[in-house]
Amino acid sequence: MALSLTRQDAVDILTRQHAQIRRGFYRAALPGPGRRRAFERLMRLLAVHEAAEEAHVHPVARRVLASGPALAARRRQEEKQAKKLLVALRRTGPGGRGYLRRLNEARRAVLTHAAREEREEFAALRRAVSGRRLRMLGAEVRITQAYAPTRPHRWVNNEAANKLAAPLLGPLDRVLDRAQRAGHRRH
Ligand SMILES: [Fe+2]
Ligand SMILES: [Fe+2]
Repeated sequence: MALSLTRQDAVDILTRQHAQIRRGFYRAALPGPGRRRAFERLMRLLAVHEAAEEAHVHPVARRVLASGPALAARRRQEEKQAKKLLVALRRTGPGGRGYLRRLNEARRAVLTHAAREEREEFAALRRAVSGRRLRMLGAEVRITQAYAPTRPHRWVNNEAANKLAAPLLGPLDRVLDRAQRAGHRRH
């Protein structure tokens, strides 16, 4: 992710990631030898994306928008729901039976959620928060994403837990990912 620290604000970064996530679901559905890699990349992107939103963006929306608490609660609920589907999808894996059906279920939940974020939350944040503050928030998002867990941990679903879990779960996830990649190379 080669993003400029100074120019891109949190809304830019997260909206751009929504587009990457959309493409990621498409690629993870394609048959062929690249499917597993596309799937793992999508899982990692989703995990870091949602972790940053939960840690930084929803809390700001909750504080500064008039309808913030209700909005943030709805988004958190959708994220929790999507996370359950993602955990089931990861358990099935790209080689498992029912993979495409689970992938499609997760895709619908994630993309509906992302569209609601853009429409209801990001647009309102742009109006209510200064450009400077949004750029600072963008820097926070990027820092969280550098340390975020790379798997959709079902039990990590709140602001405080994500902030605490990132340094603990992030490196462990990366070790597991590396081990998994090494395992695949051996087969
Ligand atoms: Fe989200
Ligand atoms: Fe999002």
